[in-house]
Parts: sequence; structure tokens; C-alpha cells
Amino acid sequence: MKNRNMKKRVLVATGGGDCPGLNAVIRAIVNRAGKEKDWEVIGSINAFDGILNEPQEIVVLDDKKVAGIHIRGGTIIGTTNKGGPFAWPIKDNEGNWTSADRSDEMIRRLQYLGVEAVINIGGDGSQKISKMFHEKGANFIGVPKTIDNDLSATDFTFGFQTAVQEATTAVDKLVTTAASHNRVFVLEVMGRYAGWIALNAAIAGGADVALIPEIPYDLNRVVDKIDSRFDGDRGFAIIVIAEGAKPVNGDIHFKESNEVGYNKVRLGGVATKLINELKEIGVKTDMRETVLGHLQRGGTPTAYDRILATQFGVKAFEMVLEKKFGQMVAYHHPNIVSVPLEEAISQYNFVNPGSDLVKAARGVGICLGD
Ligand code: F6P
Repeated sequence: MKNRNMKKRVLVATGGGDCPGLNAVIRAIVNRAGKEKDWEVIGSINAFDGILNEPQEIVVLDDKKVAGIHIRGGTIIGTTNKGGPFAWPIKDNEGNWTSADRSDEMIRRLQYLGVEAVINIGGDGSQKISKMFHEKGANFIGVPKTIDNDLSATDFTFGFQTAVQEATTAVDKLVTTAASHNRVFVLEVMGRYAGWIALNAAIAGGADVALIPEIPYDLNRVVDKIDSRFDGDRGFAIIVIAEGAKPVNGDIHFKESNEVGYNKVRLGGVATKLINELKEIGVKTDMRETVLGHLQRGGTPTAYDRILATQFGVKAFEMVLEKKFGQMVAYHHPNIVSVPLEEAISQYNFVNPGSDLVKAARGVGICLGD
């Protein structure tokens, strides 16, 4: 898709796991760019695969294409968390997977397309790619996204509030069934190595126990809390456990993934593991697990996430106009600012066990497993 109309082009890509609010960012970029006469927005399908695939998969994003998409989950230009331009998966003649660096080729292809700047919407993996391209002289701007809220450079990421809302709704629903059956329910939520979703949903839903990666749990404390919630056979308890939670002196529960380009570590299964541990230590109560999984990522973004995503999209395009390359959009309440990509990917955002949020959880009687 050679640039024949001579407008300046900004290319948008969404990479990594999808996240509610991605479409609202895309719409905001396109609508803001539409206020400038000489700019056109194009999108690469499935992160940068659209540029590197043969035939290329590039779409023009205009106001008609993005009308009304801010309320839709997912991303209209698709995404992938396999490989990327610096580690493009290739199968050799023996059927073994290896990878190739196609970053120089991608820069040439961007030039041929007449792309002046790239807005890369993605989590830490995607922003590492943004930084590497910036170091090679390409004009990259990052927009952070993740339901995990684990990027330290921004107060919040869009998608997080939607995930918390979904997890809270799940707690609310589990309360009624748990109370009816006098059961313990263990709700497993996402978050990778951060406990933000679990802790927030536990507070909002009034759970009894919240187990998060930042505070390794002692099984005996969990049993004490369950016991306190039962009077003989009657009672119920709700435990929210983050997928990255681990016991004191224990390890995170994960499976190895052999798929090429994928993160080798796939978290999940802690709810079942916890129930088995509780049974082994002598808990006789009826227990059930619910794994919320990708329901946390799908569907309509909350109003908060749509607003934050819209602010990020407008800011990202304005950073293109200001040539603020090598920077990422961030929310520093109440402002939307730009931070160097270097800084943006240098540190994760974990729950501080001494924070007011943790104190509030303890204050209302939530057991953190310690
Ligand atoms: O980073 C977002 C996230 O949803 C994590 O919370 C979770 O561990 C992971 O992605 C799941 O990835 P996938 O969609 O590849 O299963």
C-alpha cells in the first residue's frame, strides 16, 4: 500500500494480549488526526505481522472505520503475542523452531509505506520493541496497556478497571451460591506477578481472603479465617487468589509453553492447587474453584477505561505532532504526560504491602494470608 496521496502517515499497532479500551485508543488517535489536514492513520493487522507478512495487511483507519468502536472490547486491528520483528519465528528444514531479526526489513517497509511515526499500543513486551526501534532511529511512541496494571511509569493502565469490575461481579455472584451451599469458593483472577486485580476485587466484593504475589501466604492463616466464617457446618467464605500468588517458601504455579514466540511461562491453576493444599491440611468444608480467565479481558470497557484510553490516544497523536519520539504516554494524576520509554520499561508496579490499599483490606477484616 504505497503512499500515493502524499499525506503524512502514522501507523498504529496493537500488540500483546488484548485489553478493554484498545479500540477507544485507536478511535481517539484517528479522530484527533482528523483535525489535521495533512495526516492519515493506517493500522497494521496483528501487531507488526501486518507489515512483515506477504501479502502485507495494512488498513486505512478513518472516521467511518472507527465510529462507535470505543465501546467494543478487543482490537479492530487484531493483536498477537507471538514473536515480533526482533524475534520472528521461523521453522527450519528439520521442523525445529528458530527466530530471525527482521527489524531492519521492517524499517525499510515503513519507509516504503511513507510512515512518519508509529504508535505502538502494548504492554511491557511491546514497549521493549518500541524502545529497540527507537534506538535504531525509527520514530516510535508507546501507549501502555494491560489489565494487570503492572507498569510503574503510569498511575493506571486502561483495561484494569474493567478487569476489576468483572472480578468484583464474580465475587458478588459467588457470595450468593456459596452462602446457599455453605461452601468455600476460591476465585482465581489474572494479574501476572502483581496482585492488583485480586486485591481490588476482594475489597470491592467483600471477600474474606485475598492472596496476592506480593504477600506469600501461610496456609494456616487461611484456615483460621475459613474457620472463623463457619459456625459448625453453616457459613461460607470467599477467597480471591491472584494467578501469581505463592505460599511462604513456595513457588509460583505455572506451565511451560512450547509454542514459539510465546512467553514460556503461562500462569494459572492456583485455585485448584490451593483447594488441594487446604484439603491436605484437613479442611473438610465443601470447596469449589472458579477460574475467571479471559472473561476479565473481553467485553465492553468501563466508562473509566474508555476515558483513560481516549486521553492516551489523543496525547499519543499530539506527541507525534510534537515529535516526542522514544517516549510513552502515561497518566500522572491528573495529567496525561510523556515519559521516556527507557524509564517506562525499567520497573514493574507491584502492590506495596505497606500501602493504604492493603491497610484498608486488613482494616475491613480481609485476610492477606500472613
Ligand atoms: O497480561 C495480561 C494477561 O491477561 C495476564 O493477566 C495473563 O497472565 C496473561 O495475559 C494471559 O495470556 P494469554 O492470553 O496468552 O493466555
